[in-house]
Amino acid sequence: MEPRPRPVAVAVNALLCVLSLCVSAAEAENVTTYDAKNFGAKGNGVDDDTKALVAAWKKACGTPGTVTLVIPPGTYYIGPAHFHGPCEAVAITFFLQGVLMAATDLKRFGNDWIEFGWVTNLTVVGQNGGVIDGQGAASWPFNKCPVRKDCKVLPTSVMFLNNQNTVVRDITSVNSKFFHIALLHNNNMRMSNLRIHAPENSPNTDGIHIERNTGVIISDSRIGTGDDCISIGQGNHNIYIARVHCGPGHGMSVGSLGRYVGEGDVTSIHVTDMTFQGTMNGVRIKTWENSPTKSFAARMLFENMVMKDVQTPIIIDQKYCPYYNCEHRYVSGVTIEDIKFKNIKGTSTLPVAVLLRCGVPCRGVVLQNVDLSYNGQAGTLSHCENANATYVGYQHPQPCI
Ligand SMILES: *[C@@H]1O[C@H](CO)[C@@H](O)[C@H](O)[C@H]1NC(C)=O
Ligand SMILES: *[C@@H]1O[C@H](CO)[C@@H](O)[C@H](O)[C@H]1NC(C)=O
Ligand SMILES: *[C@@H]1O[C@H](CO)[C@@H](O)[C@H](O)[C@H]1NC(C)=O
Repeated sequence: MEPRPRPVAVAVNALLCVLSLCVSAAEAENVTTYDAKNFGAKGNGVDDDTKALVAAWKKACGTPGTVTLVIPPGTYYIGPAHFHGPCEAVAITFFLQGVLMAATDLKRFGNDWIEFGWVTNLTVVGQNGGVIDGQGAASWPFNKCPVRKDCKVLPTSVMFLNNQNTVVRDITSVNSKFFHIALLHNNNMRMSNLRIHAPENSPNTDGIHIERNTGVIISDSRIGTGDDCISIGQGNHNIYIARVHCGPGHGMSVGSLGRYVGEGDVTSIHVTDMTFQGTMNGVRIKTWENSPTKSFAARMLFENMVMKDVQTPIIIDQKYCPYYNCEHRYVSGVTIEDIKFKNIKGTSTLPVAVLLRCGVPCRGVVLQNVDLSYNGQAGTLSHCENANATYVGYQHPQPCI
């Protein structure tokens, strides 16, 4: 990973001029800073700091201009904490120098633990770790979602909801109770330099789940969990993911799609320069059968990927069903169109390295320069149903005929 340049303090006397209006750099950089400890936060890992942090946020959010809320080094034990706008601040930074540690009493929680919502120009940045610890081990035994469709979901560690222009960087998330990070209905998000981890056998600890967002960039991060590395759910447009290392876990996925009524299309997805190690899948598009609503999953490019010991590196599965009982009455209502897998190489731990199982025929699936070998004795295989794929350049395994 490239070291990132640190912001350099601007010389105090420098003048910034727009037309004939000049302000000193000090004025232009007039940042009001609040320290959570001045609002009663203890950061001793024992006292409950929820109220203090929310009070500090309210003060920062209500301050005009550019505002920074510092959470200094220390361990802040907190229950559900909602950091909501709209704010008076034109830009607000949540500067996490310490550790946020989740309460373990599940009765206190709704859908999430830390929630940033309805904020414009939010930056969440960590320093010296900037750790968000969901303390998930205590709750994982209560999670029935891997075996039951009508389960009660546990709280997501950090939820971004209805925000505009958000930057998240240098944050570490460990042992979430459920998803680590969820992005719901945001516009313009940039996330980089994240470290996300939970044990390989922890249930539903997806790294980043994104749903109904427009304009999301996720880059330069490492994600190892018990579930999907990054999952791109319904209603997302213009998603760019680059230089993320996934593993262990289930790999990168688009979906699952087609499960609920009224799901939106998923379009313009570009995923590049990824590495996968010891994951279940590499890149997977998964859609349920019997979808109540028709939708499109279209215009996706997955390129420059290295797979190391991945069960199934390339997979489209329109008969997705993680449960024991699934009806197979109707084909999936999700139409898959214009999907390209390019420059994908490495090793698989199952012989079928390319699995293209489409419901209604997929349209415009292209595989270009695929080089996947099976760790075992035999070579790798492709398996296709209604895929109608086009092959360009080098192909190993052999294409489906
Ligand atoms: C900085 O912002 C505060 C709050 O808006 C204002 O009271 C103060 O005058 C500003 N200082 C400078 C140097 O612009
Ligand atoms: C967000 O930041 C932009 C660019 O600095 C600024 O023009 C805009 O007014 C800000 N929005 C709000 C709601 O503060
Ligand atoms: C398969 O793809 C070709 C070329 O893209 C197209 O002409 C044909 O109609 C497709 N077949 C099906 C069954 O979709």
